[in-house]
Amino acid sequence: MDPDLAATLVAAASEAAARAYAPYSAFHVGAALLGASGRVYAACNVENASYGLSICAERAAVCAAVAAGERILRAVAVVGRRADTEDPSRPRAAEGECLPCGACRQVLAEFCGDDTPVLTLAADGGIRWRRLGALLPEAFRLAPPG
Ligand code: THU
Repeated sequence: MDPDLAATLVAAASEAAARAYAPYSAFHVGAALLGASGRVYAACNVENASYGLSICAERAAVCAAVAAGERILRAVAVVGRRADTEDPSRPRAAEGECLPCGACRQVLAEFCGDDTPVLTLAADGGIRWRRLGALLPEAFRLAPPG
């Protein structure tokens, strides 16, 4: 993937992480999705006092994209860091990579292909990527009715 585009997506994810509402975990996550239209959709995690109602950044971003009419996603970027290491001006991972949780992998698979790149920040600040199909091999698919 084009390095400038990768950097743009990671920067958008990092900026979104700075807007996380995460008073319970103090872990700030941002996700940025590149739609087939070329538009970028970013979101952060939004926690709740009833912990199980918390929403991950990736799923919030998927909802934003779909609500805007985007159903094909070409790339995903995820950035996570502890609140006490928050530094929105400099994309970086606070303590190693933040990879999408299992639930988010399944939701991403709905609108991505196996070859869709998932970009992350390695501990050294470099951008890494993996195919979604490597993160979620043999995703669940609902058999069509009939
Ligand atoms: N979180 C995400 O936003 N995305 C993930 O893929 C994993 C976890 C959030 C949920 C919760 O607000 C915090 O990170 C700690 O689990």
